[in-house]
Amino acid sequence: MSTYTVGYFVGSLAQASINRRLAGALTRLAPAELQMREIPIGDLSLYSYDYDADYPPAARALKEAIGAADAVLFVTPEYNRSVPGALKNAIDWASRPWGKNSFARKPSAVIGTSPGKIGTAVAQQHLRSIMAFCNSPLFNAIEAYIEYTPGLVNDQGEVTVASTRDFLQNFMTEFYGFISRVYTAIPRAGA
Ligand SMILES: Cc1cc2nc3c(=O)[nH]c(=O)nc-3n(C[C@H](O)[C@H](O)[C@H](O)COP(=O)(O)O)c2cc1C
Repeated sequence: MSTYTVGYFVGSLAQASINRRLAGALTRLAPAELQMREIPIGDLSLYSYDYDADYPPAARALKEAIGAADAVLFVTPEYNRSVPGALKNAIDWASRPWGKNSFARKPSAVIGTSPGKIGTAVAQQHLRSIMAFCNSPLFNAIEAYIEYTPGLVNDQGEVTVASTRDFLQNFMTEFYGFISRVYTAIPRAGA
């Protein structure tokens, strides 16, 4: 069985982020073949193409982290029915300079949680559209719109509702299968 590195983005900068909790739970539930590593976005300044000739250290680190990952996972809140600005900013940095888009041919998956009934569905649709433009092979199914109820993920990162835990575990197993299929069709460099 091949192993893959998954770089995950938490779309929230909030200290008490429920999406960070969800990311922790997904890391625990992922199959052993997936090595989960966070790709931080909080230190990035706002992107401008004025930086394209000389990226600052935080943006270089971002692109190196994505380059070192076999796949990326977005765990994001929905802000005003779209992607939080901090996450969009990180994607914009990673997609440039022109011709050096870090997401090209890199498999990706999207998941998110909110206290609302539609559980980040609209933000996820926007994010899928963005990642399609960035030429990332998208894990289209399973869709995962997680309604966050208090205590759903405890301080130890355990999912306290069995049906949700099973669903999230299956999400990660299916994502692993998707990554494997992408790299079976187009092997990694050096593989
Ligand atoms: C600026 C802002 C906009 C928000 N817009 C939405 C929204 O469109 N849909 C939604 O379900 N929740 C929305 N919320 C509520 C978030 O789902 C909630 O704050 C959640 O805790 C955010 O996830 P986080 O804790 O991981 O940051 C919004 C919150 C903020 C601060």
